[in-house]
Amino acid sequence: MLADSAIALAAVAVWFILLWYCWIRPSRRHRKPAIQIASAADTTAIVYASQTGTALHLAQRTADGFGQQATLLAIDAITPAQLSEFRRALFIVSTYGEGDPPDMAQQFYRAMSAHRQEERKLEGLEAGILALGDDDYQHYCGFGVALETWLRQQGAALLFNTVKVNRCNAADLHLWETRLADHFQVVLGDEAPFHAWTLVERTLLNPAGLGRPCFELTWKPANDQIPPWSAGDIAQLRIGDAGETREYSIASVPAEGHLRLLVRQHQAPDGTPGLGSGWLCAQLPVGHQAKIRIRPNPLFHAPDDDRPAVFIGNGTGIAGLRSLLQERINRGHYDNWLIFGERSRNTDFHWAGLLESWQQDGYLQRMDLAFSREQAGKRYVHHLLQDSAEAVANWAARGAVFYVCGSKDGMAQDVDRALRELLGKHGYEDLVDRRGYRRDVY
Ligand SMILES: Cc1cc2nc3c(=O)[nH]c(=O)nc-3n(C[C@H](O)[C@H](O)[C@H](O)COP(=O)(O)OP(=O)(O)OC[C@H]3O[C@@H](n4cnc5c(N)ncnc54)[C@H](O)[C@@H]3O)c2cc1C
Ligand SMILES: Cc1cc2nc3c(=O)[nH]c(=O)nc-3n(C[C@H](O)[C@H](O)[C@H](O)COP(=O)(O)O)c2cc1C
Repeated sequence: MLADSAIALAAVAVWFILLWYCWIRPSRRHRKPAIQIASAADTTAIVYASQTGTALHLAQRTADGFGQQATLLAIDAITPAQLSEFRRALFIVSTYGEGDPPDMAQQFYRAMSAHRQEERKLEGLEAGILALGDDDYQHYCGFGVALETWLRQQGAALLFNTVKVNRCNAADLHLWETRLADHFQVVLGDEAPFHAWTLVERTLLNPAGLGRPCFELTWKPANDQIPPWSAGDIAQLRIGDAGETREYSIASVPAEGHLRLLVRQHQAPDGTPGLGSGWLCAQLPVGHQAKIRIRPNPLFHAPDDDRPAVFIGNGTGIAGLRSLLQERINRGHYDNWLIFGERSRNTDFHWAGLLESWQQDGYLQRMDLAFSREQAGKRYVHHLLQDSAEAVANWAARGAVFYVCGSKDGMAQDVDRALRELLGKHGYEDLVDRRGYRRDVY
């Protein structure tokens, strides 16, 4: 009798373990982080929509300033209707593409459009907006502006005019701090400081290259203490005494013991060297120091689990992809597909030996390369996607995350068009909505 009960108990336990591994665990892995909207009426919602992490970082700092009185929410964790549960909401949003919302806000944006004007569902909501943008673009702060118009249509009370921030400049950001202090008596904590790093090596990777020179820059912290960061994070560098900063994708992981960047030396059509890349590639002597700060970019981090991942990029975009691949390999996640393009295999295939060895060792399941100047017709990474239409659909169906890193003009636009075409409207929207499409393009 006792033995029968023990067997029955063991069978039930095995059944639960199987249930956990086959059903509950996989479905948990692919869900977006669940957000608890606890006692919403009493708290201020801090809602962020970010592509490369800047708005997310500012939202975190703002939420920290509010302390217990705020709930930090990713815009894809909330619906427009749920906003009515709050008395007050602050939106910190960037703009992407040509005046479009960031990828993570696309679902919310579709829902915004579906809400009809006369519904005025958000009467009683007090709102404020911080809109990040770049006035070089035609639709400056386009998504922030669209959000403001929609909130007004919905009957929300705007507490102040939308604070627009051009290229993260300090004066515009100061206005946001003033608004927070005036309206909520909230003071933001200090920004993370810059630290001194020594340039220990600078190597020209494409001496006979067809394009502009690309340098691998290797840095060690001046105090010899490697700080933590994650693959996908961004290095912000102070450029000499110019009072300007420039951002670069980090190409290494801390376990490698140094910070590696891949910088293309820019030149204006009149021959003027790029301010940042000129200083880094030609002026700063090896052995000298620069001030660097690491900006976390969690939206571009590698997945924690072993789901498949497709890495697409061109040119210096291989920097961000290299660190992500290294992190995947270190975690034992080998279901990786790299799709990379440059001009010529012989002169511009950065880190060719390493990438080929990763493929031979089984860390990369597939590597497809497009060298645009090596045949009569130009070939680019989006052609590789089109050539592998079935595989792209299969990887997406297996839950793969697609990373894109490199040129925003040309490459990223063509890749986007190809993915829309190959996955169809629903497949593409599903990819975006499950945060399976992550882009660090510049
Ligand atoms: C997230 C991110 C990652 C990047 N990763 C890489 C990388 O891995 N490798 C790489 O080579 N490049 C990378 N870049 C591009 C890099 O930041 C610089 O734009 C590039 O080096 C050219 O800058 P420059 O100062 O040499 O040229 P400049 O001619 O001085 O600048 C180029 C143009 O950009 C404008 N500009 C760029 N940044 C700013 C800013 N912060 N403030 C004001 N104006 C600005 C300038 O006014 C000018 O119009 C990245 C950019 C971003 C946003
Ligand atoms: C590919 C790309 C497209 C962009 N499009 C616009 C735009 O149409 N309008 C605008 O004002 N800013 C545009 N920006 C600038 C971003 O909004 C700005 O850099 C912002 O600080 C990014 O914040 P995030 O890191 O939170 O996404 C664009 C930036 C990139 C890289």
